Amino acid sequence: MRTYQVVRSKTAKTGVLLKDPGLDRYIPETELYSRENLARMLNKYKYVYVKPDCGRGGNKVISINLDDGGSCSIHYDTRILKGKTVAEAAALVERISAGAPFIIQQGIKLLTINNVPFDLRVNVQKPFNRWEVTAMIARLRAPGKAVTNFCQGGRLVELKQAFTLAGLKPQACDRLKALLTFIGEKTAAALCRKYPHLRELGLDIGLDRQARPWIFEVNTRPQYVRGLDEKFDRYHRLIEQSTVKKYQTK
Ligand SMILES: Nc1ncnc2c1ncn2[C@@H]1O[C@H](COP(=O)(O)OP(=O)(O)O)[C@@H](O)[C@H]1O
Ligand SMILES: [Mg+2]
Repeated sequence: MRTYQVVRSKTAKTGVLLKDPGLDRYIPETELYSRENLARMLNKYKYVYVKPDCGRGGNKVISINLDDGGSCSIHYDTRILKGKTVAEAAALVERISAGAPFIIQQGIKLLTINNVPFDLRVNVQKPFNRWEVTAMIARLRAPGKAVTNFCQGGRLVELKQAFTLAGLKPQACDRLKALLTFIGEKTAAALCRKYPHLRELGLDIGLDRQARPWIFEVNTRPQYVRGLDEKFDRYHRLIEQSTVKKYQTK
């Protein structure tokens, strides 16, 4: 039986990817949450995401916009709070985080389909000795939400269809698909050097308005969506059957 490794900390995984010279350009700037870092990141990017270091499923994910007049609008779940100060935004984050480590990430204005933002899930699996990108899918944000997670009502759309609906030309679609495959394989190789017992990865990748990819996070035990792809299903079953789970929190 093989082992199946799970790494929960987004900071730990992002740290590994940032050290890879081929991948660092695809990682949004990320800091641990503190009042000072929130103020600094808001001033620098005007738009940030604040989320649990070890969260999943889009839970407790907050986006904050700093407008020209210096007031914040905060998007949490389906609520948008306007006209808040940075100190008020920090107080809300601290109420939600309740002492757990949170991270602040440069916010990416996502590419849209009919004004609905979407991002991507890129699945990479290692059923035997080699990592392979086996499925890619687009996820549209559910109405009113700041996240695209499937379990938060995000809607799945076939990749090519999403690219076309977002206005990308066929040549750009092919180039982007090849780049996403490269990013998926390179991410797997980089993480596997540090965490050798990983078997399945789900990369959450956003595309900015220039269709440039940004890695939001890498899941090491991605939520499994049956029927995405025959090979993906087969590899998933193979991995499930041949592994003993070993959990690692950092
Ligand atoms: N830096 C960011 N810029 C834009 N959207 C983001 C950013 N970080 C997260 N999101 C949105 O929030 C969702 C959830 O964030 P993610 O980091 O994947 O946490 P979780 O582990 O809860 O899924 C993402 O799929 C994406 O839609
Ligand atoms: Mg995610």
